[in-house]
Amino acid sequence: AVNNVQKYYEVVSKIVDRTGELIRNRIFAAKTIQTKASNIDFVTETDKEVECMIINGLKTEFPDHKFIGEETAAETNMPLVLTDEPTWIIDPVDGTLNFVHGNPHVCTSIGLYINKKPELGLIDVPIMKFRFTAMQGQGAKLNGKPIKVSGVKELSEALICLEGGNDPALQKRQSVIDNYSTFLPLVHGVRTYGSAAFSLAAVAMGATDMYMEYGPHIWDMAAGYVILQEAGGVLIDPAGGPIDLMSCRMLAASSPELAAEAASKFKQYYPKRDDA
Ligand code: IPD
Repeated sequence: AVNNVQKYYEVVSKIVDRTGELIRNRIFAAKTIQTKASNIDFVTETDKEVECMIINGLKTEFPDHKFIGEETAAETNMPLVLTDEPTWIIDPVDGTLNFVHGNPHVCTSIGLYINKKPELGLIDVPIMKFRFTAMQGQGAKLNGKPIKVSGVKELSEALICLEGGNDPALQKRQSVIDNYSTFLPLVHGVRTYGSAAFSLAAVAMGATDMYMEYGPHIWDMAAGYVILQEAGGVLIDPAGGPIDLMSCRMLAASSPELAAEAASKFKQYYPKRDDA
């Protein structure tokens, strides 16, 4: 199975070389922008084109594999199902709002799950030329070099990331504001990168110690989960229980201690699930 995953890794890496080039060429050019679930939830022709390149490229090599892609899911608008089949979970442009504004925090995020277990994760940040990768049991890497979480155990020593997300529901927004107010005085600083995949990768490389968000979908977390775990970090539910990739809730941390301390302080919010 390890050999298979190595082969999957090689194939997907070549595809992402091409999508990264496309995103670099498009980010500062004029774009065709449409909205999806809300007036701040955007999609561009590049999101769709990149998703097609990835799915078609993988299908050619692995015709039996399954796919969950952000833009395909937006078009069908059906509850998502993750089966035991090898499934590629894809966000072609994570941080579309950044992409629309020419902000470089833009990622392509691809996770491969087999028997519902994370096997491979790849987060490409094409503008910065950062590529985060991990295969189950083999550690996490940035541009081929091993990375590790910071290991920070207390909020009083942490640089954290909190996201506003793209759900304008008043209750959701209030939870973001309340959590910002709670955490700002407790930590070194609060960041907002605008890409869930980038934020997870930032925790994995030790550049951020904790990240929490209500609203990210399975394609925002799938690759980051593998990379973060392989870098020694933890991904749990923001109320403290195990992570549920369909729940649209996540808390990433550099240590179980930090995750537990943070989870005890969040105002909770439960968005609509991906499988509902
Ligand atoms: C979004 C980004 C954003 C996060 C949202 C995601 P998209 O992904 O990761 O940072 O706050 O929850 O949906 O729509 O740009 O692929």
